[in-house]
Amino acid sequence: MKKGTIQTPYGQVQVLTEGEIFARTVEHIEAAVRDGFSRTIGLTGGSTPKRFYQWAAENRPFSDRVISSAAWLTSDERMVPESSPESNFGEADRGMLTPLAIPMSLKYPWATSLDPHSAASAYNMRWNEKFGAHRCFDLCLLGMGDDGHTASIFPGSPLLGVEFPDNFTCVEVPEKGWRLTVTRAGLARCGQILITVTGAKKAGVLREVLRGPQGRYPVQILESRAERTLWLVDEAAAAELF
Ligand code: 6PG
Repeated sequence: MKKGTIQTPYGQVQVLTEGEIFARTVEHIEAAVRDGFSRTIGLTGGSTPKRFYQWAAENRPFSDRVISSAAWLTSDERMVPESSPESNFGEADRGMLTPLAIPMSLKYPWATSLDPHSAASAYNMRWNEKFGAHRCFDLCLLGMGDDGHTASIFPGSPLLGVEFPDNFTCVEVPEKGWRLTVTRAGLARCGQILITVTGAKKAGVLREVLRGPQGRYPVQILESRAERTLWLVDEAAAAELF
């Protein structure tokens, strides 16, 4: 399969090696910190980000400006302590932020010791005070699950029906429990969205998402942000796109 770039209703898709995906991610973080309004980076969960953190900790690819001024958050979170390997912020911190000596003042974990509603409203309040309710992350990193979910917006989610005005909310996901997540309104206020999809087991669903009928998978909500969304996809995940 050849590498390349394709246009879809959900944004441009770039097919890259994993190393190229990591390098491109760094470029977009650098650009968000240079050109964004608030220098805020929303990290995500999943297996690919963990490999990115390890790579970044080893290769130290960020400028001094990023290290000293980017604010780090996560676009979704599980209701677990930060010490848990299930914690998206905890994994980002252990894998990359602490090894890169990011100051505590630039780290914004969710308050998962609270109940989900209080944790979501505390995050909204902290965000609104610091960065303003009318915007969300300068750069939001996302992944896509095998079921076409993104952030913690799963198939059948109430977040797909009603418009939640805040950037962040909590949501109960059947069989998974409570999650904290960026909302559709929050995604709409992000400067840029970078969604990374890797591995052969994503190939079928990625084809259905990008080439199939609209409105079937949660991740297709990115259609309304297509001009600000970039998909970084490895060759295995892109195998059925061409
Ligand atoms: C999470 C994520 C979730 C993730 C996808 C992709 O916390 O799990 O927010 O949306 O990004 O499930 O995960 P992989 O990188 O493991 O495929």
